Amino acid sequence: MTNMIVGGAGRDPEGDAVSTEAARVGNAAGRVYVAQLEEAAAAIRDRIGIVPNTLMILGSGLGSFVEVVEPRVVVPYTEIPHMPQTSTVGHAGNLIVGKVALGDADREIAIFQGRVHCHDALRPRDVAFGARVMALLGIENLIVTNAAGSLNADIQVGHLMAIRNHVSLFLPEDPSLGLEHPRLGPKFYPQTDAYSAELRRMFLEIAAEQGFADVCHEGNYCFLPGPRYESRADIDLLRALRVVDAVGMSTVPEVLAVGQMSGGRIRVLGISTMTNLAAGIAATEPSHEEVTREGMAAAPKLRSIIQELVARL
Ligand code: HPA
Repeated sequence: MTNMIVGGAGRDPEGDAVSTEAARVGNAAGRVYVAQLEEAAAAIRDRIGIVPNTLMILGSGLGSFVEVVEPRVVVPYTEIPHMPQTSTVGHAGNLIVGKVALGDADREIAIFQGRVHCHDALRPRDVAFGARVMALLGIENLIVTNAAGSLNADIQVGHLMAIRNHVSLFLPEDPSLGLEHPRLGPKFYPQTDAYSAELRRMFLEIAAEQGFADVCHEGNYCFLPGPRYESRADIDLLRALRVVDAVGMSTVPEVLAVGQMSGGRIRVLGISTMTNLAAGIAATEPSHEEVTREGMAAAPKLRSIIQELVARL
């Protein structure tokens, strides 16, 4: 197995076996974690054969994207060694590999249908596990979708936001904390612009072509750990900073991990579906039912744009 993503440090050039030198690199926790990633990667490769170049991670209410995919292989998370299991209502746990229906120009993609969150009592390192496995397997594009609450008056419920950048300061810890290994990337890694400007431009261009220009935006996403929704004062604080357009409880662990591993070579597109106005802005309290319902209502729009985007990748 070759790996262009994270370099060959610590790899035995003859194959998959870990060399004596590899046994010495990183720290003990990093070596255990990487061994688990490699075990999961080997299991996935055995099941799926050819690895698609694009991975999509589906957020709340967006699981229906799989309707435009003709599955070739479905691997339940329970059959992937060390893969954290989903517990949130509305999140099925499957890795799906299949063709996106595109007429003549079929493209295979991999999809994580259902994701895990820090609020499932997991550490960011666990949340990022699946994305790291797929990075190890050589994906070139990562499309992450999520549900989010809007702080921006122009971005209404049902609208989509291509993530320009994120605020990661509220993550309980970095996905790499305590894990050092060359295959995970450098310990001190830059994350200035984790999202691909090119993929964002393509997304907005296609949205305009499909008549969705008025309901598709660009903005900054702020990770908040949940599972509580924010207080009025939390949202007032974030609004006063004038940086954040939307808040949500996901995405950032996976994006950081993939950025660290690939040094920015894996292109990342993040799309937030605005499922509610943030706490204190809406007349009603936010709820998971509303988030799921509005996520599902906006899914056809997102599906249609992403389907075309995948055709152009
Ligand atoms: N806050 C945090 N996470 C969310 C929200 C919200 O308002 N909506 C959807 N996910």
